[in-house]
Amino acid sequence: MSALFETYTLRDVTIPNRVWMPPMCQYSAAPDGPDMGVPNDWHFAHYAARAAGGTGLIIVEATGVSPEGRISPYDLGIWNDTQVEAFRRITRFLVSQGTVPAIQLAHAGRKASTDQPWRGGAPVGPDAHGWQPVAPSAVAFADGHPVPSELTVAEIQEIVGQFADAARRALAAGFEVAEIHGAHGYLINEFLSPYSNHRTDEYGGSYENRTRFALQVVDAVREVWPDDKPLFFRISATDWLEGDGWTADDTVRFAADLQAHGIDLLDVSTGGNASGARIPVGPGYQVPFAARVKAETSLPVAAVGLITEAEQAEKIIANGEADAVLLGRELLRSPSWARGAARELGGEVHVPDQYHRSV
Ligand SMILES: Cc1cc2nc3c(=O)[nH]c(=O)nc-3n(C[C@H](O)[C@H](O)[C@H](O)COP(=O)(O)O)c2cc1C
Repeated sequence: MSALFETYTLRDVTIPNRVWMPPMCQYSAAPDGPDMGVPNDWHFAHYAARAAGGTGLIIVEATGVSPEGRISPYDLGIWNDTQVEAFRRITRFLVSQGTVPAIQLAHAGRKASTDQPWRGGAPVGPDAHGWQPVAPSAVAFADGHPVPSELTVAEIQEIVGQFADAARRALAAGFEVAEIHGAHGYLINEFLSPYSNHRTDEYGGSYENRTRFALQVVDAVREVWPDDKPLFFRISATDWLEGDGWTADDTVRFAADLQAHGIDLLDVSTGGNASGARIPVGPGYQVPFAARVKAETSLPVAAVGLITEAEQAEKIIANGEADAVLLGRELLRSPSWARGAARELGGEVHVPDQYHRSV
């Protein structure tokens, strides 16, 4: 029996296997007009292919809770009903394939308003559909990035409300899991880390103050997200800064707090908040951070980062290092990766009737 192809139940949602797709921005929505932030044919084909390929759960890319919360002007959004309707087409198809539809709710903070990565990804201004980014403190992400506006307490509260509204819309759009984006140097991560949060009010300074915004978002989303549906949180487990910034110890402590506030699974990534950080990238390089949370807390975890081989993924689950694996770029290369892995490991996976002659 393959551990990778065992089902997994969180609250009342049963996920058919442990091969999941992490959020990956497609930077392919309209940047303005009535279709701004609305999923289109590209998004449908992209997510549909991975669902038909047997992926157990798909987390739809970082989706802005407001226009200013997008990473680029081409990101998806979930602040209006046109967007909700377009998402319904995607969630309906995922469910038809037995895939659990999830969505990452995001605010990009000081890293907002950048160009599509294949055009260089540089910050863009109003002449190219851009805007002025906001952050806990008026400190630019890196040279060449704008100095963000420091959020007032009233503005922070407004964003908490936008996350709750986005969650309500995600539910209406047919998603069964919501994930709060607390990683990669975007707004929530910027509050968590003392590297980017220099505030002196109740949202900065101590661990309790730096985690306040994240936990207020979790509470507001959990209040509107039904009790029978799981809520995930994506974290950058470390800033990869020596003696500075957010650390793996902070992550273990925070995992317990998140669980107490109703988070059901921690999606454990790293980095993205400090432009100069040196990251030792290699196969499975972030798995130890997930494994540590799993060993030291009772919160379920997903591991991500250069997981590409069936045996590698199987061992992560079988050894109890994580409850699920997320395959990003590998699923971009191979939409039916789960099917190949099931054949290799002797697991059961969904195959569309239309493809039965390929089994
Ligand atoms: C094209 C692309 C877009 C991404 N967009 C997001 C995103 O929207 N939200 C997020 O949390 N991570 C994003 N990531 C990071 C992935 O979710 C994942 O953590 C990372 O690619 C490492 O996994 P991998 O080695 O399996 O690709 C993105 C990665 C890629 C390659």
